[in-house]
Amino acid sequence: MKLTIVADKKGPKISKYIYGQFAEHLGRCIYEGIWVGKDSEIPNVNGIRSDVVAALKQIKVPVVRWPGGCFADEYHWQDGLGPKENRKKIVNTHWGGVTEDNAFGTHEFFELIEQLGCEAYVNGNVGSGTVLEMQEWVDYITNPGESPMASLRQANQRQAPWKMAFFGVGNESWGCGGNMRPEYYADLYRQYQTYVRQYGPEKTYKIACGPNIDDYHWMEVLMREATPFMDGISLHHYALTGPWEDKGPALNFPESQWNSLLESAKKMDELITKHSRIMDQYDPEKRVGLIVDEWGSWLSVEPGTNPGFLYQQNTIRDAMVAAVTLNIFHKHAYRVQMANIAQMVNVLQAMILTDGAEMLKTPTYHVFDLYQNHQEAELITSFGEENQSVSHTISKKEGRLTLTLCNTSVQQDISVELTKTGGYQELEGHYIAAREMDAHNSFAQPEAIKVMPFAGFEVLGDQLRISLPPMSVVTIAEVSDGL
Ligand code: AHR
Repeated sequence: MKLTIVADKKGPKISKYIYGQFAEHLGRCIYEGIWVGKDSEIPNVNGIRSDVVAALKQIKVPVVRWPGGCFADEYHWQDGLGPKENRKKIVNTHWGGVTEDNAFGTHEFFELIEQLGCEAYVNGNVGSGTVLEMQEWVDYITNPGESPMASLRQANQRQAPWKMAFFGVGNESWGCGGNMRPEYYADLYRQYQTYVRQYGPEKTYKIACGPNIDDYHWMEVLMREATPFMDGISLHHYALTGPWEDKGPALNFPESQWNSLLESAKKMDELITKHSRIMDQYDPEKRVGLIVDEWGSWLSVEPGTNPGFLYQQNTIRDAMVAAVTLNIFHKHAYRVQMANIAQMVNVLQAMILTDGAEMLKTPTYHVFDLYQNHQEAELITSFGEENQSVSHTISKKEGRLTLTLCNTSVQQDISVELTKTGGYQELEGHYIAAREMDAHNSFAQPEAIKVMPFAGFEVLGDQLRISLPPMSVVTIAEVSDGL
């Protein structure tokens, strides 16, 4: 593979929000994974696990979406206020039929946001909630003035409002969020979003429920009917190994499923391209963001675990899915303003797995770590001879270049030559790689895959030559700007 880097051509800025996370009341994501309660023996601050927060801060999580997912359209926020013992217990109908005791509510979510130092993305209930309920939640969270909801918040020991950067009006309204037709939802969206008021100085970015995968009709109708009323519109696409009804295992899979999962992940490029084309017709200035607020691999649950908890192991194959998908988002940085991988802890393609007091970082976590420099960097274009097993991003921030390359080939080393006029400043490399397709971190071996220094490159004048190991994700970055 031989590429020429066009370092002086300005590209779009890669939004840091592309590195967003999603945390739903599902399985052991919120409960156990994040929230252990103040009386837990697991070290915590105000009930939130300190080990998980520390790990997430290391990868600079920019935003967390909550409380769902399908859960959002059955969530009634007032159930999660006040003394824990008085909170309503409900059944989590979507996810395992378990009791939800509402111990983690609005105050606990914003405590998490404050501990992470990131932005909040709250998803409102359109499917089974009223306009009034949604309006009052926004008022409760954001109103700095006087109102019954602001007084209620203060009575619950929070004086100042919180900042709510993003708000979603319903989730999967075409499915678990109400089985609506796009024409009907478009009207509901226009109505509900009217009452997502701005009470304080901070504007909340409003997100309409967008299509499932390749439902281009849904996108067309929403953009036609509601463009002026939205800041963003969502898209959901999960990577699968085959049909939805027959998901492959997360471990111990054949090479055919290595390939099919990656093919499914790569479909993201086509989906964004085609949805963007529709968006361009109604929004040629690209004001409205495409918000991919659910993505990642969806595999069979681990044997012996609750099928409704969506707990799956995470291997080097998932790291490939993450790397390839993030590279696709970067390529579409003009349109993709946020993405939220599903989900942050213990569910689907997680960053972190926990077992009681133990915690491990998954290969996917390490990809987010290796890609940190791309947050808020300028995308740099390149041209030349590509290799279909290699996906890459080149970006520049504060005068420094970062290259990330992912070799999805199971057997082959691949040589890459990158030419840049003027050469490179001092470079440093890091990577993850594995020898087995299902290499992963377990509680017995939590660091089987971890970020290591990478020395497989050399600079010869304007040329950077890299030898990419099979099944690897490599970052090479300029460590000084040469000034
Ligand atoms: O992430 C799991 C589920 O997938 C979400 O609750 C839902 O929105 C989607 O179908």
